[in-house]
Amino acid sequence: MFHDAAACLLKDGKLIAAAEEERFIQVKHSKSPIPFSTYELPFHAIDYCLKTADIHLNQVDHIAYSFDPSLLLGNYNGNSEIAIPLDPSKIFNHPEWASPWDPLFLSAIVNSPGQLIDGYPHHLQPRFIGTTKGKATWHFTEHHITHAASAFFPSPYKHAAVMTLDGRGEIATTTYNVGNGNELTRIGQVNMPHSLGLLYERLTTYLGFLHSSDEYKVMALASYGKPVFINHFRDMIQLGSDGMYTISDENLEERFGPSRLKNDPFTEHHFNIAHSLQYVLEETVLELASWLYEKTGEENLCLAGGIALNCVLNARIKDRSPFKNVWVQPAAGDAGTALGAAIWTDLQERKIGDKQFIMSHAYWGPEYSDQEIEKFLKWPKVPYRKMNNVARETAEILADNKIIGWFQGRMEFGPRALGSRSILASPIDPSMQSKLNEVKDREDFRPVAPVVLEEDAADWFENADYSPYMLFVHNVKADKAAKIPAVRHVDGTARIQTINRDQHPR
Ligand SMILES: [Fe+2]
Repeated sequence: MFHDAAACLLKDGKLIAAAEEERFIQVKHSKSPIPFSTYELPFHAIDYCLKTADIHLNQVDHIAYSFDPSLLLGNYNGNSEIAIPLDPSKIFNHPEWASPWDPLFLSAIVNSPGQLIDGYPHHLQPRFIGTTKGKATWHFTEHHITHAASAFFPSPYKHAAVMTLDGRGEIATTTYNVGNGNELTRIGQVNMPHSLGLLYERLTTYLGFLHSSDEYKVMALASYGKPVFINHFRDMIQLGSDGMYTISDENLEERFGPSRLKNDPFTEHHFNIAHSLQYVLEETVLELASWLYEKTGEENLCLAGGIALNCVLNARIKDRSPFKNVWVQPAAGDAGTALGAAIWTDLQERKIGDKQFIMSHAYWGPEYSDQEIEKFLKWPKVPYRKMNNVARETAEILADNKIIGWFQGRMEFGPRALGSRSILASPIDPSMQSKLNEVKDREDFRPVAPVVLEEDAADWFENADYSPYMLFVHNVKADKAAKIPAVRHVDGTARIQTINRDQHPR
């Protein structure tokens, strides 16, 4: 994809490896979400997947890409002479396109099969070199079907309603689907330009953050505000029948005053705007979920798309929608479309009857042996020692109110640190939250999240049960609030991760 590039590898329907490109190149989201970066494929993540299976690219049978350019090519479909103008604004007249940069964007996607076999960085030669065009069958898959596939097929349910919400795919911005066994059927969709995700992105920019990246900061900011502007947002978002909605394209500065610039201080006004948007987003998605429940009669709901990373919204859906069970793909953003595209393509190609894979953890990334780690530490002469009793020594360091960089096993797939690459600290000292924000070089208002033993979760957090991916918030129980002040957000909630011995014995 052109954003949050990632790769995964399936063999006989089973996931072998999955990782985001950003983890290998140390560029957040791996690249800017702009047309010029579309040609960059997640070569390092692909290389990692091939390495894990010990194969060469030319041993892969099918390659799936989670965007189908043909849905936007219109008259240019099958035409090799799409024009890329020197000054795109001069010829923007194609009805399907949303931006004058679309010819550049689409041509990069159309050319990605060639780019994969010719454009890899030289240091990755061993697993790419010599691959010829046509060796693997290439599949461009519709963006939202890949989000939906990533939500339903790895879920624990045999049948479910499936909702996807993101900024945009080719045309769709929100989709409704029914999953049953190995089938996934679209029953409705909302199209561009109406997008709850893009509205949230616009507000993210308005509040001085980076869109397609910092939406979670808006969500955190929302806890500090009041619902002063909910009627403004209710005016902008018009709900129709059958899960449809429209969003008016109005100028946010005209409605709310000048945008916040990056280093401007936050004011009540900003908090109230964030709070009001979050409030109306929750209200709107709850309406959509109720419609989907009525329409499908399903008790299970699966969610994916960038909006499904909004853990406050997810908690509202779980607590207040008519659905009995809710499962959210842990890589709900565009990284997860790599998984969805692969599973969807595999099912289309092999027509297998039963579910092949249930995702019970997110640890699908690279791991390193003790020898490799030791070699890495020796090279820059980093002082190190082997610990005799890791658990005991770690507990002592934490009890001493010190902060630990924790690195073990396979890396997480998805945006959350879930105990494989985490920063750990004790929740007891109230100043720990600001200390961690300083270590992580991020804003003061950002919360940090607790990890809790699965069997103890309900003692500490309201309605808490199995929640291994930090995708839902729960209220901290009143009698426990004073014990864990560092992980309790200003609104009294915590975005918990439950852990059990099967997921991570240590
Ligand atoms: Fe998406």
